Amino acid sequence: MKGILLTGDKPIIPEGTKMVPVFIMGKKYLVPETLTIQKALEYVGYQLIRGCGCRGGICGACATVYRIMGEHKLYFGLACQTVIKENMVLTQIPFYPYKRKIHDIDNLEPTAETMAKIYPEIMKCVGCNTCTRACPMDIKVMDYINAAIRGDIEKCAKLSLDCIMCGLCTSRCPAQITHYNVGILARRLTGAKIFKRADHLKVRVQEIQSGKFDPFLKELIEVNEEELRRRYVEEREWEPLDSKEKGWKPQDQRYL
Ligand code: SF4
Ligand code: SF4
Ligand code: FES
Repeated sequence: MKGILLTGDKPIIPEGTKMVPVFIMGKKYLVPETLTIQKALEYVGYQLIRGCGCRGGICGACATVYRIMGEHKLYFGLACQTVIKENMVLTQIPFYPYKRKIHDIDNLEPTAETMAKIYPEIMKCVGCNTCTRACPMDIKVMDYINAAIRGDIEKCAKLSLDCIMCGLCTSRCPAQITHYNVGILARRLTGAKIFKRADHLKVRVQEIQSGKFDPFLKELIEVNEEELRRRYVEEREWEPLDSKEKGWKPQDQRYL
């Protein structure tokens, strides 16, 4: 069988798998060539407590910079998604702390002035595009910073939507920009000030506040774990994955 069987975090390596050299903290190890960087670290004995979260390319905790021995180029990736390469020299980077700016979004306007006031460093962008080249999510990072500078907040929000806050762009930016924070502000402004408010959401919030769902929640809190699992796994109605029907609703409409 090709590939690696995984039992929990421990890979079982099929016979005949090619072993390749990698360098971790300056030490050379031989690891199966099919492992991700994260699995390779565990294979050689590291226990991942920091720099590891979802293992699914979503949380951004495992930002990694590497070189291939003998090449001049720096490469960037997520350790949970990037498969090991022969002669990789690995460095996992920590998150870059940044003084969190608290905004009262209701009192901000979605404009270039707002972006420049809160994150003045964006005006120092030199257009090198290094941030885009460093991004493991293939986001056009420089473009979303430039959209923020121009005051095209919706474009900044849309272009940055897949950002997982890994910080790789920030580690490379000569203008010291924390791109992910700029994207978050743009998305908040877009949600609060540009997009039309969803009427159905307003209705649902009112229903929650009026206590409509309290009896159902109380009942769920009181049932035991086994019953909870049974309801979740066996009884719950699922929208069919291939459903083309618009506005699908479950047959049991008590909770709508
Ligand atoms: S790395 Fe920094 S300076 Fe270069 S394009 Fe990106 S935001 Fe601008
Ligand atoms: S934009 Fe920056 S922080 Fe967001 S995923 Fe790309 S490199 Fe990571
Ligand atoms: S561990 Fe979450 S993105 Fe890699």
